[in-house]
Amino acid sequence: MKRGFRPLIAYLCAAAGSTLHGQTDSAGAIDLRDAVSYTNDIRPVVKNFCLTCHAGAEPEAELLLTSYALVREETELGELLQRINDAHEPMPEDGLMPLQMRRLFQQWADGDFVNIGAERPAPVREYDNFEPAEIVPLNVNQEGFDLLEKLQGHWIGPMRLMGRRYDWMTFDYRAIAPSHVHGIFEGGTIGNLFTSFFVTDFQGQPTIMARNGGLLNGIYRTSYFVLTRVKRDWRKTTYELVDARGGKDVMSMTLEFAGDRMTFTAYTSRMGLREPTLHMRFEGTRNRSELAEQAANAVGFPRLVQDFPMPDPFPVPTWIEEFPWTSATYLAESDSVDDPIEALGEAAKDPRRIDQMPYLGQLTVPIRRSVDAQGHELQLYLSLKPIVDHRGQFLSEYGYPKEEGLDSIVSFPRLHGKADKFTFTYLHPGRYFLTIFADVDGDGIPSAGDITHPAMEVEITPETHHRLPAVSVAVINWEL
Ligand code: HEC
Repeated sequence: MKRGFRPLIAYLCAAAGSTLHGQTDSAGAIDLRDAVSYTNDIRPVVKNFCLTCHAGAEPEAELLLTSYALVREETELGELLQRINDAHEPMPEDGLMPLQMRRLFQQWADGDFVNIGAERPAPVREYDNFEPAEIVPLNVNQEGFDLLEKLQGHWIGPMRLMGRRYDWMTFDYRAIAPSHVHGIFEGGTIGNLFTSFFVTDFQGQPTIMARNGGLLNGIYRTSYFVLTRVKRDWRKTTYELVDARGGKDVMSMTLEFAGDRMTFTAYTSRMGLREPTLHMRFEGTRNRSELAEQAANAVGFPRLVQDFPMPDPFPVPTWIEEFPWTSATYLAESDSVDDPIEALGEAAKDPRRIDQMPYLGQLTVPIRRSVDAQGHELQLYLSLKPIVDHRGQFLSEYGYPKEEGLDSIVSFPRLHGKADKFTFTYLHPGRYFLTIFADVDGDGIPSAGDITHPAMEVEITPETHHRLPAVSVAVINWEL
């Protein structure tokens, strides 16, 4: 099993300016990827690996890969993704490209085929002798504890993530211990992304720290932040947290609250290799707080106690053999979807792994597709209100999927055309509706023709890994 974990230094090197630059921002505060684009990521790979045969007047297989439109067409409609990953019939012919390069194409597709990538600032820092930042944590006995209370709720709103705008994102923050609030964030990726905020000691000082990361495209990452600033005026309160090793120069996040609105902003710097730039901005409105209230009652929140100790000093991450230890970030990569997240956490030397998080549950869902559902992307919704009825027809109003259901979604991973299993991690206990549909028309939302299953409820209990029997995705939706 250990064999499956690969060193992550490739990502750090990539960050230093090679053609792989964009694919995996290991330092990403929320997402691991930078937006993969044609100009920054895909074109250089195609140029190096494909154009000797797929350009010119007589391209092999009459396939030209010489422009954005052509490469996109072959990725979207042709066999490119299949052939670059097919060990028996590889493209290029003489053998598979490195995994990271192959993944770029899938990530590019998942990100809706961005053409022109952001201009990438040149690396600005060199590290002959990196010194950890001097971080002065706020003493939570005096200031800042109310951050945890303010976070609670199911937040909905638009997000900018790595230069792209998403109209609809959601965070679900609830207490999981007397001084610990955790939120799942799901950006329609195949990841399980989270942030959690808790009271702990940092360098001997009681303060608030954040733990942020997830498992995305086989890469496990967790980063740790420390609360260093609170600013209050009559209208809003702003909290700032910085990377627990490199400080604000490496990564930071700010959370600004004004009534029932929050703005959550994250800045990253590719592990400190360049000036930090805007990575993510989420503008949420608190949609529903009764779940957070229930959770608070269940775990005795809020109480200013320390129930989540962090090691002092932090463990040395595994990636520092080849790069200075700039960030309180822990990384591990797996080739196999079957590596359990606990084992990845251990391989990364993450000081706090999922199995050490209080009160949360996991849910593994095997999926069986009808013949018609095969080869299509699957959308998985975990929601508080049902999305389909007992026959498996989408609930609708005025010819659209019912808003009440969609607004109650807390997590919405997508699975590619062949995947047949998904594990939701870091789930809050409670009852949910699980809806899986094969997105036959590929529009990303429930529509006529998509294939699903009768309404299904699941109950998540604390500190349990639930495993469902296979869900059969076989009911064709006739109308909306
Ligand atoms: C050394 C020459 C060579 C290189 C390099 C090469 N190909 Fe090919 N490619 C071929 C030949 C020959 C065929 C037709 C035979 C076959 O399908 O195996 C082909 C076929 C294909 C097909 C199937 C097209 C169809 O409609 O049947 C795809 C897709 C493809 N290549 C993609 C790529 C990509 C992407 C790269 C770079 C990552 C690449 N190829 C690099 C020679 C090459």
